[in-house]
Amino acid sequence: MRIVYEPYEMQEIANKYREWGKTIGFVPTMGYLHKGHLSLVKEAKKNNDVTFVSIFVNPTQFAPNEDLDKYPRDIERDEELLKREGVDFLFYPTVENMYPDGFQTYVSVENLTQVLEGASRPTHFRGVTTVVSKLFNITKPHRAYFGKKDAQQLIVIKKMVENLNFDVEIVGLPIVRESDGLAMSSRNKYLNKKEREEAVCLYKSLQKAKEMIDKGTDDAETIKQEMRKIIEKYEIPKIDYISINSLSELKELKKIEKDNTLISLAVFVGKTRLIDNLWI
Ligand code: PAJ
Repeated sequence: MRIVYEPYEMQEIANKYREWGKTIGFVPTMGYLHKGHLSLVKEAKKNNDVTFVSIFVNPTQFAPNEDLDKYPRDIERDEELLKREGVDFLFYPTVENMYPDGFQTYVSVENLTQVLEGASRPTHFRGVTTVVSKLFNITKPHRAYFGKKDAQQLIVIKKMVENLNFDVEIVGLPIVRESDGLAMSSRNKYLNKKEREEAVCLYKSLQKAKEMIDKGTDDAETIKQEMRKIIEKYEIPKIDYISINSLSELKELKKIEKDNTLISLAVFVGKTRLIDNLWI
């Protein structure tokens, strides 16, 4: 695996592979890799001639009060994991290379980013869409892989690609979970033992929602109330939001719509804010 630090160098490599008629699969990440990230890498490997992964903790998607400085990092371990997966190139730029002095151009998707994570984190998605646009221009992928774990991110990026005519196929892949159901996340590292045990409440509440829907309940308010009850049984977790939205426009739904429903929630477990979701 070759590690590339400079955007122009990564671009030259991408151009070469394109000239040679090879397909490029790309997985953008912020590192501190786990099996969720690696599931995307495996899929990219399987379906493309060459696999690029990026690790970049993107400052523009963190608000000043968020965890940018303490975001977990372990580049040596990440390199080892990516080598083992057979990744061809790791793009690992510096903040200065991605955002040199005088940087002033942003990409933003409007309506889809006003709700859910966007409501709680108003500048977050502008940072995500800006960095992902840059990464697409640098790595020139034919296919790019994202997890359904960050459901709104995936939906926003699909909209950006469609609206700005990016020539890349966006592939969304299922959430990878720990054995008790907790969705894998780099932020799980922040949890102490008791918090880790109670963090399973997000998954438990989604399971309850799934059960209710399977039994025929379609009223969104009833489902949200039951989910709330489950989480309130735990000591530490505090709900930020529980929401039921259309997948197409992220409009709040009163009734479950088959193949067009996203049930999502954000919960503070101690100081750590966790998200999870279910696609119906
Ligand atoms: P990061 O949180 O590192 O996640 C990178 C990718 O891994 C995202 O597409 C995310 O949805 C996916 N992922 C994370 N946990 C997962 C899980 N448990 N199962 C399946 N996929 C999972 O998302 C970002 O980085 C950044 O916002 C980024 C897109 C890189 C832009 O900076």
